[in-house]
Amino acid sequence: MSEKRVTFASKIGIVAAAAGSAVGLGNIWRFPSQTADGGGAIFILVYIGCILFFGIPLMVSEFVVGRASRANTAGAFHKLAPGTQWKWVGRLGVLTGFVIMGFYMVVCGWTLDYFFQSLSGNLHGVTDFSGNFNTLLGNPLRQIGWMILFTLLTAFFILSGVKKGIEQSAKILMPVLFLLLMILAIRSVLLEGSAQGLNFLFKPSMEHVKPTLFLDAMGQAFFSLSIGMGCMITYGSYFNNDINFTKTAIQVSLLDSLVAILAGIIIFPSAFALTANPGTIANELVAGGPGLLFITLPELFNQMPLSMVWATLFFCLLSVAALTSTISLMEVVTVYLHEEYPLSRRKSTLLVSIGVIILGVISSLSAPFFNILDVASAKFMLPLGGFFISLFVGWYLDKQLVYAQLTNEGTLKQSVWFLKIYIILLRYVAPIAILAIFIYGLTG
Ligand code: TRP
Repeated sequence: MSEKRVTFASKIGIVAAAAGSAVGLGNIWRFPSQTADGGGAIFILVYIGCILFFGIPLMVSEFVVGRASRANTAGAFHKLAPGTQWKWVGRLGVLTGFVIMGFYMVVCGWTLDYFFQSLSGNLHGVTDFSGNFNTLLGNPLRQIGWMILFTLLTAFFILSGVKKGIEQSAKILMPVLFLLLMILAIRSVLLEGSAQGLNFLFKPSMEHVKPTLFLDAMGQAFFSLSIGMGCMITYGSYFNNDINFTKTAIQVSLLDSLVAILAGIIIFPSAFALTANPGTIANELVAGGPGLLFITLPELFNQMPLSMVWATLFFCLLSVAALTSTISLMEVVTVYLHEEYPLSRRKSTLLVSIGVIILGVISSLSAPFFNILDVASAKFMLPLGGFFISLFVGWYLDKQLVYAQLTNEGTLKQSVWFLKIYIILLRYVAPIAILAIFIYGLTG
């Protein structure tokens, strides 16, 4: 294992990298479809609760484990708890990363496909947008082609060491994406008939509540924040010693949730306003479907002047947001292979890419398989990982070590009650809540 590991150069680079990992298709594609599926506002409330009570503390925990060990996800547990079985938590995380990439890359492929549909002008002539999306879903070869391209693109950035380049460009492009989302949100809300969509999004109603509501919202929170599999352990291992973990975690979570809610404000008002049958749209939304983003948004662009310019810009920026997420996922698995086995970075990347492509091909051919990977990772593996990480930092790690990480060896002034609350959240609140939600979700 190489002793000298890279660290991120600038502070803004760190927030950008962590935020780049968090903000991705999870916010803009998965969040709206989960919110629809979960019945709207109620889902969002539970989701925000999950972010506050265990999302942020868990992100901080992963940073702690990463920087205290300066190792890959599995190596980190190995180093901090030598001779114990904790290393399995890290290994579970690596496996989770692999499973996530197995379906995530397919959605990245759809995004690229829509980018080229906009760029070429093909999207312009479309009148039946759900038909247009279903044509893509019915064409495995087209999906597989884009998925492989996206996987190779990710591998290229992992290998070439121009990750700096992508961080630099993400720093510029992400604010542009944010601005674009704002414009689209305003346009969507101004559509006639949008009020119902806003109601669905912000007015809690028990009508569509499901027994799995809590598990679904928790899974989405983990997925969106990139926590529960050691992604933030790996990024934390690159952090400099003067990074304020709490502040970073709060900033990243805030930004991440804001983007998700904005995506909701774009999609639901337009879905309600542009539907042909407003009577059944709520039920249709609750029936969900991964297509929401790829059906409703092109419809919204169609309502705007220069529709193809907006569409091209949007799907281009979305691809970049997705890329900074897939880079973080692939980095976890690659660094693990590279540091734990005698494999070069190049060989590790190649191996991971081949594995991801195999899973991606199966996901493209089989929607049930795609769903199994999605559900297994977000609703089982990430919560399980988060549960063990909270136990590890709350109970196993020496409290002084945790405090030292949180206060940067005492140089940050953190009040005593803050540290106490933090430990209570990790020792009791997070693990008990995660376990309870998990069991309730599985039996409910
Ligand atoms: N959070 C990213 C998104 O919302 C996806 C992602 C990247 C992720 N790294 C992760 C999810 C690690 C879980 C764990 O799109």
